[in-house]
Amino acid sequence: MSFRHADILSAAQFSRAQIEQWFARADDLAARLARGERLRTLDGKMLATVFYEPSIRTRLAFEAAMQRLGGGVLSLADAKTATAISGEPLPDVIRAVAHLADVIVLRHPDAGAACVAANASAAPIINAGDGTGEHPTQALLDLYTLRAERQTLDGLHVALVGDLKHSPAVHSFARTLSEFQVEFSFVTPAALAMPTAITDDLRERGFSVEETNDLARSLQTADVVYMTRVCKERFSDLKQYEKLKDFYLLTRALIEKAKPGLSVLHPLPRANEIAAEVDALPNAAYFRQVKNGVVIRMTLLADILAD
Ligand code: CP
Repeated sequence: MSFRHADILSAAQFSRAQIEQWFARADDLAARLARGERLRTLDGKMLATVFYEPSIRTRLAFEAAMQRLGGGVLSLADAKTATAISGEPLPDVIRAVAHLADVIVLRHPDAGAACVAANASAAPIINAGDGTGEHPTQALLDLYTLRAERQTLDGLHVALVGDLKHSPAVHSFARTLSEFQVEFSFVTPAALAMPTAITDDLRERGFSVEETNDLARSLQTADVVYMTRVCKERFSDLKQYEKLKDFYLLTRALIEKAKPGLSVLHPLPRANEIAAEVDALPNAAYFRQVKNGVVIRMTLLADILAD
């Protein structure tokens, strides 16, 4: 299978076989990096990052991935400011950048923006988060981390917690997990529930999906907890955000009462939902997720830009 010259817009594009093939390649790349090999696979190729919203991990992981494969990087870290005075529309920006780069990584506040960009672009588009839409490469690195933490992706009970309404990472992660045999708990206050389109789709496909607001109870049976921050930037009413922002806090005490061996994931950045005391526990996988983000992006770029 190949994603040669393909866009990556949604986790719905990923089959189990494709994911497993990418993970085998990512394992190989990780081993070669660990041996100190200097890779030149993408020598002469250029990546552009076009980010209309802030990012630390996604933008830098893509840029590190391209450079570790011997390619070059064009970085537009603040496309919002760059287009503020002219009001240049997204399709024009993308048409221009596609003449400068072989692949474009886009973050944008509007759901569907990556599809708009793909329709305008001569170069493949990678969706690096489109508002409340999707963040498909985050889902791949989350799943890759989970496989490393648990040695399997089947038979797991996964609790997704927090702002499931707005987080594009959980939308993509739920879709990606559904290529495997898993049980879901969606743990949210009612105002931040997972979109019904995703919940209904999972149930129609035979998955067990529990919806609850009780984090402590979910942790009695979950193997994995995936925490998310409440996305302040998606609220028009900040009073509503203030009411919801501290709804959950995962603490050492909660983990000690949870099912033994609980894996704790978070796409980061966090706000208040994981206490700093959790960071030192072996359960905390969220900084390992960041590390894995580089080899996953290397794998994808090598596939998309293969000659
Ligand atoms: N996980 C994630 O998308 O992080 P950034 O916002 O730092 O890219």
